[in-house]
Amino acid sequence: MIEITGRKPIRKAVFPVAGLGTRFLPATKAIPKEMLPIIDRPLIQYAVDEAREAGIEQLIFVTGRGKVSIVEHFDTAFELEATMTGRGKQLDVLDATRIQPGNLVTVRQQVPLGLGHAIWCARAIVGDEPFAIFLPDELMIGSPGCMKQMVEAYNQVGGNLISVLEVPHNQVSSYGVIKPGARVAEDLTEVLGLVEKPKEDEAPSNLIISGRYILQPEVMRTLENQGKGAGGEIQLTDAMARMIGGQPFHAVTFAGRRYDCGSKAGFVEATLELALAREDMAKDARALIRRLAAQID
Ligand code: G1P
Repeated sequence: MIEITGRKPIRKAVFPVAGLGTRFLPATKAIPKEMLPIIDRPLIQYAVDEAREAGIEQLIFVTGRGKVSIVEHFDTAFELEATMTGRGKQLDVLDATRIQPGNLVTVRQQVPLGLGHAIWCARAIVGDEPFAIFLPDELMIGSPGCMKQMVEAYNQVGGNLISVLEVPHNQVSSYGVIKPGARVAEDLTEVLGLVEKPKEDEAPSNLIISGRYILQPEVMRTLENQGKGAGGEIQLTDAMARMIGGQPFHAVTFAGRRYDCGSKAGFVEATLELALAREDMAKDARALIRRLAAQID
């Protein structure tokens, strides 16, 4: 990646994927939730595609027990490829799963102590450079993608950035919420404060953190002594909140669509909308949705 602004480029991304996925049981008993497909690509693939579009080279997966298939997905499948080649089949369908050797690294989060702890587990691999974080449950679709848009903003303002979006007030207690400050550009707002999972009447706004971050490496040192927060977990939001004031902190409003694939309804919504948007599926999807809609009174 060419460095135009003198800022250190964002080359690394952390994907916390150690969660148990209990909301999708029994589907997630033996399969990581990140491997559940939206049409024909596992959820994690969408996040990885978004990262690569933004110029990110190294993928750091914070995994746990039972998550090996995520790594397998991005490995070379020798037997599969040899068999397909022998049968004269094209392999380009596997292109998105190819990672340059050395560019996928895993670390284990041995105990589920929270998102902040998961990120901290990657500290030695992140080292002393700014890095991105993707929460794969949050599926972001747009052109440019959410992280690409954030990297462009980072090139202008530097420091720390998070993606935000508006939700109805009665949903804020499920998320990290920002206290917005001055608007710097149409899609860029200063962040004055952050609260993880506030009560509806105590939330500083209805702008929630939507699962994409660009953070300075100092966050790792802040996480080092971060006490437990909401839900008794070590919260990334709390560590970020302590960095405000010391370093620039901005929120990017993503100019695209977001699906909360941590919920079943969000998963179905993403599946239907992406099917409608895909050339190879749009016709069938339209017919199907019309037929289903006609059955609803
Ligand atoms: C996490 C973050 C929260 C963010 C949310 C987005 O919460 O802690 O700040 O708004 O992801 O999905 P979790 O969903 O892990 O409870």
